Amino acid sequence: MKLLHLDSSILGADSVSRNLSAEIVSHFKSKHPEITVIARDLASDPALHLSGTHLAIMHGVEINDDIINADIAKGNAYLEELFDADVLVIGTPMYNLSIPTSLKAWIDRIAIAGKTFQYTATGPEGLLKNKKAIIASARGGVYSAGSPAAAIEHQECYLVGLLGFLGVTDVTIVRAEGLAFGPDVKAAALKQASVQIASLEA
Ligand SMILES: Cc1cc2nc3c(=O)[nH]c(=O)nc-3n(C[C@H](O)[C@H](O)[C@H](O)COP(=O)(O)O)c2cc1C
Repeated sequence: MKLLHLDSSILGADSVSRNLSAEIVSHFKSKHPEITVIARDLASDPALHLSGTHLAIMHGVEINDDIINADIAKGNAYLEELFDADVLVIGTPMYNLSIPTSLKAWIDRIAIAGKTFQYTATGPEGLLKNKKAIIASARGGVYSAGSPAAAIEHQECYLVGLLGFLGVTDVTIVRAEGLAFGPDVKAAALKQASVQIASLEA
């Protein structure tokens, strides 16, 4: 079994999503001691925003730009790691109602027509098969279904939609929210997330 572990919080060791994603990875390791884990810290080592130069090189134009060429190689490695993985563990805070830009930059490198999805006569088809994803989500406010802010939740909803578009439909969310609502709410959210992780099917 191979697991791809992505983190995107800028808060280092204080990050809730990082702590939750690490707990999820430990859970999988305890159930599958032989598991191979590939970790990508997208906050400390992000891909660049895509540029016209990236696209030109990707389409075969020879441009001697060492920085962009190295960045394209990084994107190709992202893609290989993704295809290899059986399980994706994605740590994501909510930033401004959505995901961190470093995670979006990763997505911009792996969502590629003809590789991870394709357009058919009946519409788009995801090409990532037999993978499951666990999202470790952290946010200061509360956006769960039924809450007043649910309609402006574009973090989990975006990621689940994107993964589904690529063919990954087995997605579990481990969520700690309301983290800015005070120590009691935070402690309860963390406890609930830990209980969920302990019972995750691995
Ligand atoms: C740049 C930035 C933007 C944020 N935007 C939101 C937001 O839109 N909604 C929200 O509920 N919390 C927001 N927060 C709070 C984080 O979601 C919260 O602190 C969460 O714990 C961050 O995850 P982490 O602990 O893994 O870093 C924001 C935090 C930062 C640093």
